[in-house]
Amino acid sequence: MSSPVVLGIESSCDETGAGLVRDGRLLGSALASSMDEHARFGGVVPEVAARAHVHALMPVVRRALDEADLRARDIGAVAVTTGPGLSGALQVGLAGAKGLAYALGVPLYGVHHLAGHVAADALVHGPLPDPCVVLIVSGGHTSLLLVRDLARDPIVHLGDTLDDAAGECFDKVARVFGLPYPGGPAIDRTAREGDPRAVPFPRPLATGPSGHRFAFSFSGLKTAAARWAERHRAAGLTLPLADGAASFQEAVADVLTRKAVAACTEHGVSTLVVVGGVAANSRVRSLAEERCAAVGIALRVPPLRLCTDNGAMIAAVGDLLVRAGAEPAPLEVSVDPSAPLERAALHPAGAARARTA
Ligand code: KG4
Ligand code: ZN
Repeated sequence: MSSPVVLGIESSCDETGAGLVRDGRLLGSALASSMDEHARFGGVVPEVAARAHVHALMPVVRRALDEADLRARDIGAVAVTTGPGLSGALQVGLAGAKGLAYALGVPLYGVHHLAGHVAADALVHGPLPDPCVVLIVSGGHTSLLLVRDLARDPIVHLGDTLDDAAGECFDKVARVFGLPYPGGPAIDRTAREGDPRAVPFPRPLATGPSGHRFAFSFSGLKTAAARWAERHRAAGLTLPLADGAASFQEAVADVLTRKAVAACTEHGVSTLVVVGGVAANSRVRSLAEERCAAVGIALRVPPLRLCTDNGAMIAAVGDLLVRAGAEPAPLEVSVDPSAPLERAALHPAGAARARTA
């Protein structure tokens, strides 16, 4: 018998996403974004995001069902991001998910947003190998993880950022460079015409003091980029934007990929998975390819549409949890805006039964 169709709902930030997954296969998905409403503020405004989710949620679910050629009654389980993220935004998604699960009489699963980013890759490249090293690079997080069975095992953090996340650094540097929000794609585009060796930006924690081998730090790099821009402006010079963007992007890509490959080598792991919004960056992708190929590590990076926030990735985790026999969440489950990434299922009762069960 095939497993149930899992509806995944994502609303932790400015994207409202719905996806339908069964047996590791993506059946349909839809996305709405309030990004344009935040652009003039230079960052996501929590109340604006929450209100946009209220309007977008049910239409997005309906569009995903249409794409999959399914009806609501075909849904066999609902998975929803319960953290981390913006509290109000998360609550809208969770309220919608609870309503649907209750009305349909199907189980509900609370999912960690970052586990969703990890699982996204399995939708296109098949089940994740056990073990694999995962580099998560998003707007809010930068971590190197050792992942075994995503639905059953705890996730081991090899290193995390000590300050800013890589995406946050892209967004802040883009702002001081006068580029539009979101900054990552803007820097990526601007960098195409630039020389990555033009400005010698620092490689923070490149060698890593003991205890920080796989940790990251981006605030120093952000300050260096801001100082570089200020120096030009103070001297009345126009900013050589393409060179600045290319050099900054090179510094970020260099530290991320160097540490990720070292983590694989050190832990004897032969697959690196790079996920999250910054995995959409063209230089992060090409440098990761180059460095993995050089040492014989298989690299997996999901396609762009699955790198940034979406509902399919949450459905993918839900599908893994269902198939692993995980306990559903109680209906009183609540959001956890600053949830640490320890397991794919967020609610304590959602931890999968022991492997031996
Ligand atoms: O994973 P994501 O969609 O949302 C979070 O969970 O944070 O990541 C968003 C981040 C933003 O900081 C955005 O600037 C960055 O991903 N990003 C990029 C690119 N596309 C998105 N950063 C660098 N290059 C890109 N092409
Ligand atoms: Zn994300």
